[in-house]
Amino acid sequence: MILPTKYHLPVLLPEVLNGLKIKKGERYIDATLGDGGYTFEILKWGGEVLGIDTDEDSIRYVKAKLETPKGRPNWKLEEKKNLYLVHGNFADLTRIAKKFGFDKVSGILFDLGMSTYQLEHSGRGFSYMGDEPLDMRMDERQKITASDIINNCTRGELYEIFTKFAEELHSGAIAAAVLRTRTLKGRIERTKTLRAVVEEVLRQVYPGIRQMEFEKVRNGTLARIFQSLRISVNNEIENLKKGLVQAEKLLMQKGRLVVLSYHSLEDRVVKKILKESDQEERLRILTKRPITASYAEIKANPKVRSAKLRIAEKYV
Ligand SMILES: C[S@@+](CC[C@H](N)C(=O)[O-])C[C@H]1O[C@@H](n2cnc3c(N)ncnc32)[C@H](O)[C@@H]1O
Repeated sequence: MILPTKYHLPVLLPEVLNGLKIKKGERYIDATLGDGGYTFEILKWGGEVLGIDTDEDSIRYVKAKLETPKGRPNWKLEEKKNLYLVHGNFADLTRIAKKFGFDKVSGILFDLGMSTYQLEHSGRGFSYMGDEPLDMRMDERQKITASDIINNCTRGELYEIFTKFAEELHSGAIAAAVLRTRTLKGRIERTKTLRAVVEEVLRQVYPGIRQMEFEKVRNGTLARIFQSLRISVNNEIENLKKGLVQAEKLLMQKGRLVVLSYHSLEDRVVKKILKESDQEERLRILTKRPITASYAEIKANPKVRSAKLRIAEKYV
């Protein structure tokens, strides 16, 4: 595998590591391994890690990074031995954790959403900027792609996806335009075609708008439409609920649950599940308000703008 030159920068790294309270010899689950940003740090601190990712490229990438002299020349045998990698979904967290003996752990981390690799290098159409097949599957074993949704859903179903998963103001007009394009021009298979459909709708909704303002509105709308498709293709909200509920049960006493979310829909789910656990005295919320990135971190990595970090600790 060719290692990408641009890595995913782990967000709020010190805060996440402090949140997990890493201790030598203890066990942690990184439920969203990605490029392994947090996992490699936990290993350096002497923790044992079960790294899970639904995207097989992530597993391949981390394996290759452990082997390559360019990754980190001196990965010690002990550090490598402390890492277990699984291509799987955190919706199956209990089953995976038990299989590897990680059923009583000191910390579990969820860094939600997608990695820089997926967005910029996977070629699976996560970004509205290029021209790639409308795929958006994180796990390529899965059958349904974004193209299947765009080409087979009814107008009502598309409206629901754009509204429910992105709160998009122009959901109705965009859903109607997708149906029109399908009828007049055939299937929408590529990101560029979908982008053109959305742009055409916005030109009609905002006639005479200045180019700079148009670009701002267009980019926001495209980001939301693409996000809603990604959430739908990967069943992200249901998987998140399943993953969080199981995570709580896998923590040992005083174990930490650390969750980074990137949009309000995700954050609402995290907040609700943590609040219920806190009320029932199973978890104690340690972040009354979510931790967000500093101005300096946002300047260095604008993608962290929307990051919200919530931490909770297991009672008993
Ligand atoms: C923001 S990235 C994680 C980046 C990582 N923390 C790092 O520092 O490189 C999110 C990762 O979670 C993975 N992911 C998303 N949903 C998942 C799920 N249900 N189960 C397992 N992994 C998932 C994605 O494939 C992606 O690699």
